[in-house]
Amino acid sequence: MKYNTIDFNHKTILITGGAGFIGSNLAFYFQENFPEAVIVIFDRFRSEETFSNGNLKSFGHYKNLIGFHGDIVCGDLNSPHDLQQLKEKYRFDYIFHEAAISDTRVYDQKIVMQTNVNSFYTILEMALETEAVLVYASSAATYGSQPSPQTVGREGPENPYGFSKYAMDQIAYRYMKEHPNMTIVGLRYFNVYGAREFFKDKTASTVIQFGHQILSGKTPRLFEGSDKIVRDFVYIKDVIQANIKACAPKKSGVYNVGTSKPRSFQDIADILQKELGTHYGTDYFPNPFTGYQMHTQADIRTSEEFLGYVPEWELEAGIHDYLGEIKRMYEEEVLHG
Ligand SMILES: NC(=O)c1ccc[n+]([C@@H]2O[C@H](COP(=O)([O-])OP(=O)(O)OC[C@H]3O[C@@H](n4cnc5c(N)ncnc54)[C@H](O)[C@@H]3O)[C@@H](O)[C@H]2O)c1
Repeated sequence: MKYNTIDFNHKTILITGGAGFIGSNLAFYFQENFPEAVIVIFDRFRSEETFSNGNLKSFGHYKNLIGFHGDIVCGDLNSPHDLQQLKEKYRFDYIFHEAAISDTRVYDQKIVMQTNVNSFYTILEMALETEAVLVYASSAATYGSQPSPQTVGREGPENPYGFSKYAMDQIAYRYMKEHPNMTIVGLRYFNVYGAREFFKDKTASTVIQFGHQILSGKTPRLFEGSDKIVRDFVYIKDVIQANIKACAPKKSGVYNVGTSKPRSFQDIADILQKELGTHYGTDYFPNPFTGYQMHTQADIRTSEEFLGYVPEWELEAGIHDYLGEIKRMYEEEVLHG
C-alpha cells in the first residue's frame, strides 16, 4: 500500500524506536513497499531495568524485528556518543523519531525530560545538517484533560510524559520558524492499537489486553461506566499512513492522528466478544484513577488539510484486521512464551 508518490527506494531512512510498536511497523512498511530503501533502526532495546512504577525502562523487543533485513544500531537517546555514531555513519533522507519513554505513568520528571527532550535537539540538528525530512512522535497526552475535540494550539499536559511531548513540539516550532526550508512534522497520536504492541506489556492497548482476557476464557474486566468512557482509538495502519503523508506536507507543523470518531472501552470488549464468538458479559470494577480522561476525540481537520491524512479504519474493521495477530500472540507468547 503506497499512500503517496514518494519513492523511498534508495533513500536512507532512520527509525528511532524501531524495536518498539510503531517504529517496527514503520520498518516493515518500508521494507515491504520499498525494498531498495536503506533502513536503519536505532533503539535501546529492553533491559531488565524498571522504573519505580515497576514497568520496564524500555519496551523495544527483538521479536518485533524478526524478518527485518536492514541495519540495527543498539543505542541510547541519552548517550551523545551513540547518536554521534549514527551521524558519522549515515546521511539520512528521512528520520522517523519514535524512540521515547512512551509510558505515561513514569513520574520521574528528570528522566522523562532527559530522554524525550534533550535528545530531540540532536535529532533536529541531524535533520538540519543532512537536510532530512523529520517526522517525530508527539502525543495526545499534550492535551491533558482539555475538552474534546482536542485541537492543536489548546494544550494542557498533566503528566511529565505529556509535558515532554509538549516541550518537543515547542522546540520543533522554533526550528520550523528559524529554518523554513526544513520539513518537520510532529504527529500527535491518540490511542494506537495493532500488531507488534504486545511487548508494551501493561501499556499496550486495551484491544490486545481484553482480547487476551477473552481468549483465556475470562470475562473482560472494565471500569464501571465504561460505556461512557470514550477514546479516539486509531489503528496502526492509519498511523503508518499519517507518517508517510507527513513526508510531503503542505506545511510543517504539529498534527493530530486519530479517527475523530471516539469509541468506548465497552465497544472494544463487545466487538472482541462478537469476533471471538463468546458471551462472557463484562466484569465491572471501580476506576481507581482520579482525574481520569472521560472523552478524547482528535480534531483532524488540519491533518486532512495539510497532510492529506484521511483515517480508513473504523474500530470494527481495525479489530477484525488485527484479530489473527491477537490470537497468534496469545498462542506464542501468553500460552507458550
Ligand atoms: N502507542 C501509542 O498509543 C502512542 C500514543 C501517543 C504517542 N506515542 C508515541 O509514539 C512513539 C512510539 O510509541 P510506541 O507505542 O511504539 O512505544 P514503544 O515503547 O513500543 O516504542 C518506543 C521505543 O523507544 C525505545 N526507547 C525507549 N527509550 C529509549 C532510549 N533512551 N534510547 C533509545 N531507544 C529508546 C524503546 O526500546 C522502544 O522500542 C513514542 O514516542 C510514544 O511516546 C505512542
